[in-house]
Amino acid sequence: MNEREGTDCELERIETALLLEGIYQRYGYDFRNYSYPSIRRRIGHRMGIEGIKSISSLLERVLHEPEVFHRLLGDLVIPVTEMFRDPEMFRVFRRDIVPELRKLPYIRIWHAGCSTGEEVYSMAILLHEEGLLERTRIYATDISENALQRAKDGIIPIDRMKQYTKNYQTADGKHAFSNYYASDHGMVMLKPFLQSNIVFARHNLVTDSSFNEFHVILCRNVMIYFNSDLRNQVHRLFYESLAHDGFLILGGKESVFFTPMADSYETCNDANRIYRKVL
Ligand SMILES: C[S@@+](CC[C@H](N)C(=O)[O-])C[C@H]1O[C@@H](n2cnc3c(N)ncnc32)[C@H](O)[C@@H]1O
Repeated sequence: MNEREGTDCELERIETALLLEGIYQRYGYDFRNYSYPSIRRRIGHRMGIEGIKSISSLLERVLHEPEVFHRLLGDLVIPVTEMFRDPEMFRVFRRDIVPELRKLPYIRIWHAGCSTGEEVYSMAILLHEEGLLERTRIYATDISENALQRAKDGIIPIDRMKQYTKNYQTADGKHAFSNYYASDHGMVMLKPFLQSNIVFARHNLVTDSSFNEFHVILCRNVMIYFNSDLRNQVHRLFYESLAHDGFLILGGKESVFFTPMADSYETCNDANRIYRKVL
């Protein structure tokens, strides 16, 4: 990198910091401790679509035009998800964690960063098949109102169902996957009974505190977008929110190792990022 490119990079970092500060002060969303490379890519993506040439110009538009902010927000939150994503994790959950949950009279599960709900409905299906859904309350939270609304609607484009059916079978699903939805005009509607024990609510992992004590917390593919300070902060929140002997389940590229809480967990299944609070 030559001197000119170095200066440009430095200026982009300053402009990005100003943009994130502006968003925080104007709208209360705090992306200041998200990982820089990822946030920079999302900002660049939005600038391309809007035809905006500099991050400073984007800041001006974001401050004065809430609709531009909301479009940028849609890019920053990255709502990518799937039903039975990483099916092996659900298979291991059914085999190793369900027997532990069976011992409890009442089960509380928190999906933090649930996106459009596919992960939550997958869990509801699994618990239903294991006879545990009725005594479970699932709290499904996300920062994004849009994602939560889609989660509550429980409607999924039909073209995703081939992949989801394959995932369900790999996750040792017990029935025909089509038992759980009705299709209509290129969409599928998940069966309403799956929702009966789910509470969908807005919760920001950066700024909101703990709200219950859980036996299982799943936070998959969310903290990869955070820098290490923010990751550590959120790990403290999860530690405070987990019951003793509770399970923390992370995404495939995430781990409790190298966080301040590492010694408080034992590894149940490292490949599938399942940890148990022991201290
Ligand atoms: C890539 S999706 C992961 C969805 C699901 N957990 C999965 O693994 O399939 C990341 C989700 O994290 C949410 N998210 C990002 N920052 C958040 C925050 N500060 N608090 C709560 N949710 C957040 C996003 O809105 C998005 O829905």
